[in-house]
Amino acid sequence: MTRVKKDLLWLVDLEPEDIWELVVMARRIKDGRLNVSHDMDGKTLGMIFQKPSTRTRVSFEVAMLQMGGHALYLNWRDLQLGRGESIKDTARVLSRYVDIIMARVYSHLDLKELAYYSSVPVINGLSDLCHPVQILSDLLTIYEKIGRLVGVKVAYIGDGNNVANSLLIGCSKMGIDISLATPEDYEPNPDILNMAREFSRQSGASIEVLREPLDAVKDADIIYTDTFVSMGMEEEREKRLKVFIPKYQVTMDLITSTGKRTYFMHCLPAHRGEEVTDEVLDSGISIVYDQAENRLHMQKAILRWVIGL
Ligand code: CP
Ligand code: NVA
Repeated sequence: MTRVKKDLLWLVDLEPEDIWELVVMARRIKDGRLNVSHDMDGKTLGMIFQKPSTRTRVSFEVAMLQMGGHALYLNWRDLQLGRGESIKDTARVLSRYVDIIMARVYSHLDLKELAYYSSVPVINGLSDLCHPVQILSDLLTIYEKIGRLVGVKVAYIGDGNNVANSLLIGCSKMGIDISLATPEDYEPNPDILNMAREFSRQSGASIEVLREPLDAVKDADIIYTDTFVSMGMEEEREKRLKVFIPKYQVTMDLITSTGKRTYFMHCLPAHRGEEVTDEVLDSGISIVYDQAENRLHMQKAILRWVIGL
């Protein structure tokens, strides 16, 4: 029997129905209606990491364990990849050993090459371009907290980075209105923005890219931010903090300016006192730890989905 290989490289490839199926599946797994404890019996996930990780690494590893399978942590530097073995050969060889590959890489092009030469499904655990598995679990969190996706308004404040790119695609596909406030020259990827505008025409969602955080958060149900200095951008740290902190830090004043109940979301890790204040992060409207927990439930749904369960 031939099996069609199903990668999860970016949300662009998923239909809204696929995203909804994953949200519903993760919710059923979380509340115990769907028993997945043997779904990965005898299966192995290879997890290649070129950058650090807490949530992605631990949630995928625990998910595999709780589903009867096994996960291998493979640090890029410790693989022959780190000494120059090609991505092509690594992909072909790992495909002979493991059933699924998850990779966190600097360059999205490397991820695409890995997926192209792998005969097993490849999951993006974060690249410079996007972070799809984060946003899938965030959609579960939004659905749990607000009870719907269509018509919810998300305001994203800060850097137009990988998380912002995936949020744009996820929201525009699912009918969630999204307003971003970013400084000039830190907007999301223009190709992603064009694709999101196209998806939003189909879903009825609205998209705004603005400069002023106060404008973006108007009527927002959710205010979302992420680090101002993503992994791999450390040399720009001083410059970025000067541009971002004075205007784009999420404070309690910004959140109360919506005039309604607004939740605060962050993919974590948070840099307290930079993109968000302690007061916001530790407040009752912060749902960042529910977000982190939902990574585990969503990883299980994703693992099932890529192998066609
Ligand atoms: N949000 C997220 O992906 O966290 P880690 O970098 O800890 O995996
Ligand atoms: N934008 C951040 C996300 C970390 C989960 C980064 O790429 O470092």
